[in-house]
Amino acid sequence: MDGNGRWARRRGLPRTAGHTEGEENLAALVRVAVTRDVGWLTVFGFSTENWVRPRTEVRHILGLHKKLFGRVAELNELNVRIEWMGRPFDSPDARTPKYVQQAIRKAIHDTRQNTGMVLTVAFDYGSRAELVHAADQARRAGETISEQTISQHLYVPDLPPVDVLVRTSGELRISNFMLWQIVGARVYFTDRPWPEFDAAELDRALALVRR
Ligand code: FPP
Repeated sequence: MDGNGRWARRRGLPRTAGHTEGEENLAALVRVAVTRDVGWLTVFGFSTENWVRPRTEVRHILGLHKKLFGRVAELNELNVRIEWMGRPFDSPDARTPKYVQQAIRKAIHDTRQNTGMVLTVAFDYGSRAELVHAADQARRAGETISEQTISQHLYVPDLPPVDVLVRTSGELRISNFMLWQIVGARVYFTDRPWPEFDAAELDRALALVRR
């Protein structure tokens, strides 16, 4: 969801205002995705690299995650199930604060019966950390390291391979996101910053895989 900061700067607003708008847009886009019969929507909410941002910005983004995970009534109305992927809370390098952990646990629990779209939020997530973790889990279980055992030990093993990867705000590069899962994915690049990624944009991305 790149470009929140740039969206805000263009309007003479602080970066935090861009993130607030980004969270609102995500909530709106979830509604649209449900009407388009999207089965799985996975968003990069906060990366293992994002912790170096200024303290006030990090605190603001954490608050927005708490807010998003708190939108349970809305998610239940849409039959959306929440998932999360990131460094396990009990791992030595995990950084997710307790209050966000609680919001994540509660959202997963309170939406577990929903059978519609699965919204997975990547928080304290990095693809390389995920792959190291998967290999380590396989090794500890005494398994041979193989494509199958790595796949089985990803943070959310039942996520299907990615059909379409979206990159907003003119970023023409891949980041540390789902590197294992994006093999063969179509990629939709757009110049629009995340707060302006709307229904028409989602439809253009989906058109890459629904011809
Ligand atoms: C990138 O914009 C966005 C982030 C670092 C993540 C924060 C995302 C949100 C707050 C959207 C809401 C999502 C959730 C899950 C609550 P940027 O700061 O990199 O913007 P820039 O590229 O213009 O600097």
